[in-house]
Amino acid sequence: MSDALAVDPRAVFAAGRLIALPTETVYGLAAPIDRPDLVARIFELKGRPASNPLIVHVGSIEQARSCVSQWPELAQRLAERFWPGPLTLVLPKAAHISDAITAGQPTVALRMPDHPLALAILNASPAPLVAPSANLFTRLSPTRAEDVRAVFEPADVEVVDGGPCRVGIESTILGLDIDTRTLRWLRPGQISQSDITAELPPGWKLKVISERSKEAIDVTPGRMQEHYRPAKPLTVVISERSAETVFSDVGAGWRLVSLPQEASAAARQLYRALREADQDHVARLGLCLPPCCLDQPPWEGVVNRLRKAASQWHDERALGPYRA
Ligand code: TXA
Ligand code: MG
Repeated sequence: MSDALAVDPRAVFAAGRLIALPTETVYGLAAPIDRPDLVARIFELKGRPASNPLIVHVGSIEQARSCVSQWPELAQRLAERFWPGPLTLVLPKAAHISDAITAGQPTVALRMPDHPLALAILNASPAPLVAPSANLFTRLSPTRAEDVRAVFEPADVEVVDGGPCRVGIESTILGLDIDTRTLRWLRPGQISQSDITAELPPGWKLKVISERSKEAIDVTPGRMQEHYRPAKPLTVVISERSAETVFSDVGAGWRLVSLPQEASAAARQLYRALREADQDHVARLGLCLPPCCLDQPPWEGVVNRLRKAASQWHDERALGPYRA
């Protein structure tokens, strides 16, 4: 056990409990890949459908290789460049990775998180750890230990407090199709498309597929259009005007959510800002985004999360001034 760790992961798992793992992106709810009972418990506690596959977290490239049946040169290159860090690679799975983890798919998602406590827990664990975000299914992801404590019981989950998450939104996910030498852009995160294309060797291409396409649904069955949701309905308005102006006419009972103007700061604050607003005694949440954010690559991850978090999306460029 590492000195930095106040818990012994082996003892926690032996007692049938899960660990809330701090990572640089969001907190994860972790269990060893070779404990089917605890893997099932994750789905049960989160209320997550079995069709939504889990990411396997590893402490080394060697451990990642033990979870796959093929490890192409490009996987090695991306892992060396971006791990530990907010990048998940989807590759053909090794036989011992269970269908419960991959939702029956022939592939497994892998990532090495960039947080000293996450790495210490991984190194002190009996096996790699599956870890979905430590939130209830479809709800806001947790970026602080208290967000996890507010939802799960201590009897079920040992929460390791690693402070607020530095990145704030989930990892970028890439699917490696070795036969066609295609990288599929499955979920945007802090690592951008240009970060990835800069690493692509000749012969490989990056394919960005619409989330609503059949191809996207086939390769990532768990991706929901409704996700990352506050309890109160959220309206996002795309506008050149200030939020105060946009929402000034729409009546009482609104709480405005504001984000920093810089993309990585906005990502870091996103879930926390929505969570705090959600706790106010208001009926609805409102957020304004300048149109330029929609096509600036660093904003892709935040815009993706907001599209799913919003129950109403109003683009003033197409629809004119917002009226509730
Ligand atoms: O940053 C993160 O990735 C966080 C932290 C805790 O590491 N984890 C996370 O896990 O976001 P989760 O379960 O909330 O999202 C995992 C997503 C699934 O919904 C699915 O879209 C994709 O990863 N995924 C997992 N396995 C896959 C596979 N074999 N093929 C395609 N997509 C997969
Ligand atoms: Mg999640």
